[in-house]
Amino acid sequence: ESAKKDGFEHFMMKEINEQPKGVHETLFRRLKEDKVYIDGIKITKKDLERINKIYIVACGTAYHAGLVAKRAIENFAKIPVYVDVASEFRYSDPFVDKNTLFIAVSQSGETLDTLAALREAKRKGARVLSVVNVVGSSVARESDDVFYTWAGPEIAVASTKAFTTQLIALYLIALHMGITNEKLTEKRYFEIIKELKVLPEKIEKILKNTKQIQELADNNFNNNSIFFMGRGIDVDISMEASLKLKEISYINSFAIPAGELKHGTIALVEKGTLVIAISTQKRLTEKMISNIKEVKARGAKVIVVTLESNKDVVKVADDVIYIPETLDILTPVLSIIPMQIFAYYVSIARGNDVDKPRNLAKSVTVE
Ligand code: G6P
Repeated sequence: ESAKKDGFEHFMMKEINEQPKGVHETLFRRLKEDKVYIDGIKITKKDLERINKIYIVACGTAYHAGLVAKRAIENFAKIPVYVDVASEFRYSDPFVDKNTLFIAVSQSGETLDTLAALREAKRKGARVLSVVNVVGSSVARESDDVFYTWAGPEIAVASTKAFTTQLIALYLIALHMGITNEKLTEKRYFEIIKELKVLPEKIEKILKNTKQIQELADNNFNNNSIFFMGRGIDVDISMEASLKLKEISYINSFAIPAGELKHGTIALVEKGTLVIAISTQKRLTEKMISNIKEVKARGAKVIVVTLESNKDVVKVADDVIYIPETLDILTPVLSIIPMQIFAYYVSIARGNDVDKPRNLAKSVTVE
């Protein structure tokens, strides 16, 4: 088994380090002359005229990829998107018909709730597209179209490379829709593709400098509770960062939209409370700074994840984790990486079984 870890101590760290490759494969296999080329998936202009609503349904980490995808699809293709966890979708009598596109996102393709949700959507006449990692899995087999991620086998229970490759797959689907229904300008389309292409090396850059993140984990592993906050797309990544941390550290953790602080969570803040603020969206930086000030004024310690160019947030943070510059819509692919590494080192510092956290399974095939 140690041979398969390629010299890494755990599968999770190996898989974190495989993200540049997974992202590269998932992306470049679908590009031809710098255009999205999804040969297997035939979503035509006519189809998109008919589709008046998209449901993205998934569980766990895959659900968080769906939250990011909603922002990309609505932004590029201007089609309304609803995102739901599979266990809720299947019992909610969802408003789905033949004009609905249903997108299932699943690493394993075997999650029972996701599969059941897919069947329910099909029964109601929806067209089903899935984003799946495991070739030939149940979700893939039962879908009309499949977009495979090229993450390679993921062994660690806490999902890492499956997530970033799902993001890439969903960005490509969103771009394909936007250019096909002409809601996205060519200029922006090519600008986004150009930026997607350099993400693997930007992930590589983050992976080369993990010492600071390890130190932050070593200094904070003893906390009983850590919460995450962000605005816009950073809310989605706060949720995924929090899930990663709780899965393998067993620290009580949750995530909120920073603007919701005053509506409850601020009551929890006392001297020494650790808050991780994800602040990558330029137009929301000012708002984030005031939220950070609000928790700091009550004694919180704040770690901020932000872009290298952000010189303002530094003034209010206790510690800053920088990620390379990219387009606002694409930041999730980078901002999640330090959060995976943070969760990993917190788990190690607490002496937990990183790859096989208690009570959790890699694939949940029961209800
Ligand atoms: C389990 C795993 C998670 C995963 C979720 C959905 O809870 O531990 O890592 O995100 O299932 O799995 P799927 O295979 O459908 O993506």
